Amino acid sequence: MGDVNGGDLVIRSCREEDLAVLEQVSPSPGTSQFHLRRYERQLAGEVIYLTAWLEGSPVGNLCLILGGPDNPQARDGLPAGPEINAFDVIPSHRDRGMGSALIAEAERRARDLGHAATVLGVEVNNHAAHRLYERLGYQDWPHGWMRGSYTWTDDSGREHEQEEVVVWMDKRLVVEN
Ligand SMILES: CC(C)(COP(=O)(O)OP(=O)(O)OC[C@H]1O[C@@H](n2cnc3c(N)ncnc32)[C@H](O)[C@@H]1OP(=O)(O)O)[C@@H](O)C(=O)NCCC(=O)NCCS
Repeated sequence: MGDVNGGDLVIRSCREEDLAVLEQVSPSPGTSQFHLRRYERQLAGEVIYLTAWLEGSPVGNLCLILGGPDNPQARDGLPAGPEINAFDVIPSHRDRGMGSALIAEAERRARDLGHAATVLGVEVNNHAAHRLYERLGYQDWPHGWMRGSYTWTDDSGREHEQEEVVVWMDKRLVVEN
């Protein structure tokens, strides 16, 4: 993988032996074990869970959900294609191109699987992420904001639903011959 701002960045699918260090460096809330959940979905063939490594330490992750958004309303308003989800770079390593490299690798994987688009939802107040997506060629869909939610589990095992308001974006992938 390419050189990002002086370091040798490796981007690859998550492996079982990565899970402990991923959870240590980017802890999930409560007992959610998000890295394990995404890895299990990868084993089931539903996602590709990309992880970014610099000098052997994890610096970011991105989950490519191959079937597109779970929400049928979102799916109906977007071109068919995998969803970029769980996209995160650790705070100390942001603004060095690692997020862009993760997105590029996700798009390459999507293209290799024959998909013509990738899609994503971004919280309406996350202006930094929205600007980055626009820079990388993503466009807002024409349907405005949409309510969504995700669940997390606290230390006592109780599930919580976290609401969010997102705008969906998409990018048509150029198929290389
Ligand atoms: C969104 C996020 C994943 C982006 O990761 P990142 O590694 O900072 O992304 P990049 O470095 O590729 O791009 C960020 C900015 O740095 C700039 N940049 C890229 N390489 C650079 C470099 N070598 N030197 C200086 N700036 C650089 C980019 O052009 C971009 O600028 P922009 O914000 O004006 O578009 C990261 O900010 C993050 O984890 N945020 C919290 C979680 C989040 O919001 N996730 C998205 C949910 S939808």
